[in-house]
Amino acid sequence: MMWYTRVKWIRSKFANINHIYKRHFLLGIETSCDDTGAAVLSKEGLILGEALAKQPSSEFGGVVPSFAMGFHARNLPVVTKSALDQAQMTMEDVQYLAVAVKPGLSGSLATGLDYVKYLSRKHSIPLIPIHHMEAHALTARMIEEIKFPFMVLLISGGHCLLAIAEDIGRFKLLGQSSDNSPGEVLDKAARALRLHALRPDLRSVPGGRAIEIMASEGGSPFAIDFPTPLMQFKSCNFSFSGFKAQLWNVLNQVEKKQPLEPDELLPNVSDVAASIQYGVARHICHRLQRGFEYALLEEIWPSNQENTLVVSGGVACNQSIRNSILKICEEYNIKAVFPPPKYCTDNGVMIAWNGLEKYRKTVDIIQPEQVMELDVSPRVSFGTDISEQVTNRNIKCKWIKLL
Ligand code: KG4
Ligand code: ZN
Repeated sequence: MMWYTRVKWIRSKFANINHIYKRHFLLGIETSCDDTGAAVLSKEGLILGEALAKQPSSEFGGVVPSFAMGFHARNLPVVTKSALDQAQMTMEDVQYLAVAVKPGLSGSLATGLDYVKYLSRKHSIPLIPIHHMEAHALTARMIEEIKFPFMVLLISGGHCLLAIAEDIGRFKLLGQSSDNSPGEVLDKAARALRLHALRPDLRSVPGGRAIEIMASEGGSPFAIDFPTPLMQFKSCNFSFSGFKAQLWNVLNQVEKKQPLEPDELLPNVSDVAASIQYGVARHICHRLQRGFEYALLEEIWPSNQENTLVVSGGVACNQSIRNSILKICEEYNIKAVFPPPKYCTDNGVMIAWNGLEKYRKTVDIIQPEQVMELDVSPRVSFGTDISEQVTNRNIKCKWIKLL
């Protein structure tokens, strides 16, 4: 073939591919808390473009809802364009939109939804509304094949729950936190220990990561006893508020002995960090162990299939907490799947993936003419709550030693 004939032939092939793929893509948008994410997936589930604008919330002592709204409004067009550019696409190529509409901060969710409604109307694209927690739970299926039913543990800054994923949009809630989340406790601990202020290298890392780094600098997990919460309740529910109270006690005792200078770190800061991290891990693992016992007792996992636990949320990035979870999984012969850290924390890819899963099942697809009726639901539950049934089973566990 002469070279110009070959060029013509290649061009015609690409024209065909362009034609086939035109409007065959899905754009997902995440704005439920403080970070703004966008991602483009092909219908086969390949990530073609992704962008995330991370708000430095730890620098202003946590998420400030009004700042978060402004941040999303400024960054939504930027991350969307960046994801589309990477995918070498324009909005004209997008066939479906997906956006997180629940749960989360109302202003943040509404800013994302308004933007996506605008895109839907302007470019005439159907929209798929997404439950943020369901998206965390399903992301692992993008990385590898995981059959339903599987168990999912979500441990992040905004949530803490243990559930059975039965299908897309069908979850059974085994237990959840009645107060704080593990991420919140670790963030508060980092702030109380003044890690962001006194360790410049930790200034812009999340609180939980700061605690992990501090703990790894020779801290003993047994130095301070953080009692395991809810030991008297045979449930899969969580509670983290006791860790905060215990931490204030520890800090008060130190201050009483010898007040700290304004620029001075607690002398045993690594021990405190390691102990609280271990306390949080132990509590999570106790509830998880009971969850496994319940699922086996109730024969929730089919016997002809590998039993799988998916662990997601920002706190799942913590290596020490991961190792503890892995220990429990090993004992029960359960496969643990941790999505890569960047997909454990909030991102646009998880929303796009959940959108794709719903598209494949043809559920929750809202046509452009109806999108204005959609609203956000900042406070909603997750799945069917069976936590009482779990408690009523009165399951005693022989606790597995973590360290
Ligand atoms: O999933 P995520 O990004 O946001 C939601 O809360 O939805 O989780 C953020 C939380 C924060 O509390 C942060 O401190 C925690 O995840 N985190 C960690 C680590 N990296 C982030 N906690 C423990 N160890 C880490 N390495
Ligand atoms: Zn999240």
